[in-house]
Amino acid sequence: MATGYSLNGYVRHAWYMAGWDRDFTQAPQARVMLGEPLVVYRTEEGRIVVLADRCAHRLAPLSHGRCEGQKLRCLYHGVLFNPDGSCAEVPGQEIVPPSVRVRAYPAVEKDNAVWVWMGPADKADEALIPDFKGYAHPDWALEPGHMEMDAPAKLIHDNLLDLSHVGWVHKNSFAGGSDRATRGWIYGKTEVDKLPRGVRVTRRMENVPPVPAGGLRVLKDKGPGDFYSWYEFLSPGIFIQFAARYPQGTLARCGENPPDVEPLFSSYTCQAVTPVTEGKARYYFAFGPDSRFPGEKQFFFELSEQAFGEDKTMIEAQYKIMKMSPEVRTMRLAMDKVLSTYEGIEKDLLAAEA
Ligand code: FES
Ligand SMILES: [Fe+2]
Repeated sequence: MATGYSLNGYVRHAWYMAGWDRDFTQAPQARVMLGEPLVVYRTEEGRIVVLADRCAHRLAPLSHGRCEGQKLRCLYHGVLFNPDGSCAEVPGQEIVPPSVRVRAYPAVEKDNAVWVWMGPADKADEALIPDFKGYAHPDWALEPGHMEMDAPAKLIHDNLLDLSHVGWVHKNSFAGGSDRATRGWIYGKTEVDKLPRGVRVTRRMENVPPVPAGGLRVLKDKGPGDFYSWYEFLSPGIFIQFAARYPQGTLARCGENPPDVEPLFSSYTCQAVTPVTEGKARYYFAFGPDSRFPGEKQFFFELSEQAFGEDKTMIEAQYKIMKMSPEVRTMRLAMDKVLSTYEGIEKDLLAAEA
């Protein structure tokens, strides 16, 4: 039942998100990423450690174990591991053979997220962690969340690479049922720029009414205006979007340049898609208004949960159909230009790894 979404299609020399910083304590937690079982815990000092979730002795999950200071003890027969994966103690014997060890994964906490390097440890490069900002960034009032998806991560990538679906899937959430806003998402002027590890898409819509995702609640008396947004989609599955509303006429005046005035309202979202297994993914997101409107934070979070639930319904249903007819290929239309551009960039990254 091969659908062409094998885990071999994902880059490994990359940082994948394992969770939000607030998800982790000294209590070890299991995570499956790219089909590999991992255990994540904080040491007594608060440092994040990520190890293979498979004791070297009889392969019991270390996530059923307990943290002891810096170390993690397997609670099947008590073998104790150091944060670098080497063995600190084997109960009942004096000598610890060096072969008793588990793989340790480089892990970094940055922008409120825990990032795990899934490639060879000696190739880990912290400069490749994206500028994510995170839910506690002072410029934004963001609330973090996550969703389990019964679909390959790549189908979520495709969804995020082409936001024309907002006009259809999110017509009644992000676009507030407005036909003008809907048309803007489908026909709005977009530019696509290639980045070293992804794409940047800029979208301009003139003369559109305020919609829920554009700050309707704070702009309700303001009438139509201009909408300007950019998003970046970066390997291995990071989505960052800025969206803002300006007084009508701003975009016409600025021409090809970004708006040169403060927006009336803006929002930001940072998201990460982590493949779990071939047919499952975890979708992390934080979404919210700019920090001038903290009162909108909860509304935005609920709106994003509603909208991402709409994506989940569509993508999981799409994947069910794909599994029933694995021999039938998808096709490319004009709206898929960004998908094709990104696919080319990812192919180069995969080739560089090999
Ligand atoms: S399986 Fe972990 S100590 Fe035996
Ligand atoms: Fe969506």
